[in-house]
Amino acid sequence: MGPLDATARHTFRERVLESRANTRASLDDRDDLAHLQNGPLTFAEAEQGLLAGHAFHPAPKSRAPFSEAEARAFCPEHRARFGLAWWAVAPPLAAGDSSRDITAADLALELLPANLATRLPPGFSALPMHPWQALQLRRQAWVQAQERRGQLLWLGNSAAEWLPTSSHRSLYAPRAPWMVKGSLSARLTNSLRLLSLKEVRRGLHLDRWMRELDVARRFPGFAVMQEPAWLGWLDAKGDVDPASLVVLRENLLLGAAETETVVLATLTQQPLGPGRQTLLAARLRAKTQALGEPLPQVARSWFGAFCERVLTPLFGLAVEDGIVLLAHQQNIVLRLDDGWPVGMFYRDCQGSGVGDRFLERHPQLAPPENHWPQATLRRYFLYYLLINSTFAVISALAADGLVDEARLLRDLRAHLEGLRTRFDGDLDCLDHALHAARLEVKGNFFCYLSGINEATLAEPARLYLPLDNPLAATTATARHKGVPA
Ligand SMILES: Nc1ncnc2c1ncn2[C@@H]1O[C@H](COP(=O)(O)OP(=O)(O)OP(=O)(O)O)[C@@H](O)[C@H]1O
Ligand SMILES: [Mg+2]
Repeated sequence: MGPLDATARHTFRERVLESRANTRASLDDRDDLAHLQNGPLTFAEAEQGLLAGHAFHPAPKSRAPFSEAEARAFCPEHRARFGLAWWAVAPPLAAGDSSRDITAADLALELLPANLATRLPPGFSALPMHPWQALQLRRQAWVQAQERRGQLLWLGNSAAEWLPTSSHRSLYAPRAPWMVKGSLSARLTNSLRLLSLKEVRRGLHLDRWMRELDVARRFPGFAVMQEPAWLGWLDAKGDVDPASLVVLRENLLLGAAETETVVLATLTQQPLGPGRQTLLAARLRAKTQALGEPLPQVARSWFGAFCERVLTPLFGLAVEDGIVLLAHQQNIVLRLDDGWPVGMFYRDCQGSGVGDRFLERHPQLAPPENHWPQATLRRYFLYYLLINSTFAVISALAADGLVDEARLLRDLRAHLEGLRTRFDGDLDCLDHALHAARLEVKGNFFCYLSGINEATLAEPARLYLPLDNPLAATTATARHKGVPA
């Protein structure tokens, strides 16, 4: 990343300390740490229960430029709850698109409360927005000019029933048919959280492509929280203003808000105090008592269910359909039945791409902008799904003393070898996972140290570093050769 000057080093240090202080403040603020550590948690509780943050980032809870008061009002770890901000956008400025039969503007109307709908002028589009983002935009001279000209109309905030999820910028209301993911002009981990037109279009493509894939039958319990619509406004030059963008995401929890549906990052997050354990370990210890089986056995069979419900569908889509979903721990929402994996929701369609297999299956389509060559697909897919998510599950189970790490690595290897025979398609990503001497891991530390904005980096490959592949050194059949478990 090159030499660093004193200012860059100073900024890094400040942000790491700020993140630490923020984590401390949220821990002090909460009166439900025991519940967060023992579960069971609902979707909303898990989204707002990720207090320790990202396990391999130096400043996971840095959130410049939020003030202390803003953090309390808007951050999930402070259990924030607020109203959506609403604009009316005049036809010449309104932008949006949908992959469904209904326009994006009409889909957004499904969220607009009646008291604000009465203020929407005929022909105008209603645009929902994160309230902090709306405050920032209302300070801009151009936005103020549009308000004076009647091109943008401020409708106000809806009732405080929206919760920021673990990403801060995606908002959830238990009774709303859509979640709302919007641009947030704040720097969280490696990027300024602005959506781009390129990214929001990915959701519409994915929604169309996946319609014919019969995913529900092929991968029971698996679903993508599709993002079939985006909205925003046009800037002075007639381009979509990234700061105004929002996408509508299916609320697959509708009618099931009380089920145990938990973001993986909260299930594996570091224990929230001395003498505590991860939520995953606590759930499994409780399960062990109920089943009366030995802990390592329960942990292995839970991990087997995790592999089947998470790795099988995500590898299946990549191998058979060439559809690649970048499933890091925060993008996997695990569906549990009495603590047991029975399915998963993938979220975050901005993190989707396609491989060569997809192009072969759709020769009539021009290659989409998120078509990734083989080396890129291997790097991203395996970093997110194996290193970030699956190895974190293995570490959590092993670190809390439930089962030996090498044992789970062998189980993982056996699962992936099994998938090779179940799937028909491009097996390259499976073979790479099983045999490559090294995988690639995202260098969050160096990325953050050098102040790079990952979202707009021309060559994100630069951020990746080699990591010895623990699977290549493992043989699934080792147990038959007398290697201790
Ligand atoms: N293991 C992890 N890997 C990546 N991000 C993580 C992890 N654990 C927690 N996070 C947090 O997840 C947040 C959002 O990540 P990401 O960029 O995937 O989501 P997003 O695009 O902003 O929103 P959404 O996931 O709602 O679509 C960041 O704040 C990051 O710190
Ligand atoms: Mg995400």
